[in-house]
Amino acid sequence: MKALILAGGSGTRLRPLTHTASKQLVPIANKPILFYGLEAIAACGITDVGIVVGHTASEVKAAVGDGSAFGLKATYLPQDAPRGLAHAVLIAKDFLGDEDFVMYLGDNFLVGGITDIVHGFTIRDAATAARILLARVPDPRKFGVAEVAKDGSVLRLVEKPDHPPSDLALVGVYLFDARIHEAVAQIAPSARGELEITDAISWLIDHDLGVNSSMVEGYWKDLGDPEALLDGNRIALMAIRPSIAGEVIDSKIEGPVVVEAGAKVVDSIVRGPAIIGRDVVLQSSYVGPFSSIGDRCAILSSEVMNSIILSDSTVDTVGAIEGSVIGKFAKICHRSERPSATKLIVGDHARVELL
Ligand code: DAU
Repeated sequence: MKALILAGGSGTRLRPLTHTASKQLVPIANKPILFYGLEAIAACGITDVGIVVGHTASEVKAAVGDGSAFGLKATYLPQDAPRGLAHAVLIAKDFLGDEDFVMYLGDNFLVGGITDIVHGFTIRDAATAARILLARVPDPRKFGVAEVAKDGSVLRLVEKPDHPPSDLALVGVYLFDARIHEAVAQIAPSARGELEITDAISWLIDHDLGVNSSMVEGYWKDLGDPEALLDGNRIALMAIRPSIAGEVIDSKIEGPVVVEAGAKVVDSIVRGPAIIGRDVVLQSSYVGPFSSIGDRCAILSSEVMNSIILSDSTVDTVGAIEGSVIGKFAKICHRSERPSATKLIVGDHARVELL
């Protein structure tokens, strides 16, 4: 069994964080989303993983390397443009050979791993060519949607329908045998110009090849937009193991908190679950529940709650920040000179909500 993890695409809904950076490398609880997927794959006992990369290939390669840090052997599969999930399978054909594989979308976050599902697929009957994962969602129109029979076999799939036939969304983890290669070669691009994996799976169904489904038991989220990212961050932080490696001076640490090595917490309160990255300076501040502060940030005379701050950013004397996602090397500070007006230098597609 091999794995194919998708780390290409454009990440438009996470702009401006993803103007130049890979959306799969945006961190939750200070760890890139992609790493959770790689860990889940390694936990199944799979070692050979193909990583589909697009214009952010160099960044993904720098973060994952040869995969050995995860116990994996990574092979990079360049995709010239985001031509669809089925296109990713198409370009991975030589890497995958005739083996069964799990395809994992690099922006999906699942708690509880995929080990049981992957092992279940290895002992399937020969008629079953694919297995998909499903979760009930309040608004299925943003996802692939399935219609399933009582025994879990899949009757029909539609991609982002205006009128969903059910509330069963396709989760971004799929199990396939080699018969998917013929399916991805047969389908045509959809109205949005992509080779859709839902169309390839529908091709299997139409050719009487078995496609069955499993419901995802635990938490699952497609971390494609900032609200989802904050939600995933909250869930990831609930699983942290508290540890204090940095210095804590005249400060209070309450609840599950990680303070990484080199960090300095001075005259501050940190209320977990929260993570304070390496070499962070936290001075005269409050970091509240569900906050992830990236490496080398400075939080000075400010309050941060329920937020993600990526590495190397400064928040200085700005009152309280809540429900925010702040990119790398950002500077948010108090303006002391006149005119006493808000001054903004923000990137394209940024969102700022002022009091
Ligand atoms: O998250 C689950 C959903 O993922 C499913 O319910 C949908 O059926 C499925 O089509 C997919 O929808 P999205 O619109 O969310 O897919 P997105 O374009 O965000 O791509 C998913 C991941 O795959 C993301 O990490 C980027 C990567 N990707 C995407 C495309 C289109 C590639 O590596 N190459 C590509 O060509």
